[in-house]
Amino acid sequence: MKGIVKITLVVMIVLVSTSCKKDSRPNYQFMPNMYEPVGYETYGQYDVFPDEQSALLPAEGTIARGYSLFDYGNSNEEYMRAKLELKSPLSSSDIDTKRGKELYTIYCGICHGTKGAGQGYLVKREKILGIPSYADAARAITEGSIYHTVYYGKNAMGSYANQLDEQERWQVVAYVMKLKGDLEK
Ligand code: HEC
Repeated sequence: MKGIVKITLVVMIVLVSTSCKKDSRPNYQFMPNMYEPVGYETYGQYDVFPDEQSALLPAEGTIARGYSLFDYGNSNEEYMRAKLELKSPLSSSDIDTKRGKELYTIYCGICHGTKGAGQGYLVKREKILGIPSYADAARAITEGSIYHTVYYGKNAMGSYANQLDEQERWQVVAYVMKLKGDLEK
């Protein structure tokens, strides 16, 4: 008797769980949250993230892949330290003058001029003043000082850390050094 009850139960469970299956239509999805992503909106605020952020921030103390830290702070002393000891990681065969010129023309030429003599379009139109020549002996720029300047900016010049990645910054630095050399000829 007990056996019959058990068998009937099993048959019923099988029937219930398979009777709705139809290959021509999508089936029931158990626990859909395991398959379907939750549609968070970009600027939405959700309880699942701390402080009502719309996404998680990277863990503290981590850096994104492909990035490296810049060991110099944003101050005059650190500028001087970079000027004296920071060297370009590019070897002479890594230097891509064409790329350097391209980036320089896009980001720097408007103020510093195509030759780096401080005669960019904005200077000629008197929109900005005080652009030095790269050959200005009083400044005696070096690879390290140029990189620091591009990274943090300097007085009226803004930072270009967001527009250029590390590799591109060093390419621009190499190009500025080339312009400096040409100006001093
Ligand atoms: C909006 C105009 C402007 C642009 C664009 C600009 N600069 Fe400058 N730059 C300046 C000014 C102004 C100074 C002088 C800052 C100062 O007071 O020492 C300067 C100074 C410099 C110096 C000399 C810093 C020193 O050590 O004395 C370098 C090198 C330099 N810029 C490189 C660049 C490079 C490379 C770019 C492009 C990525 C660039 N600049 C883009 C305005 C600009």
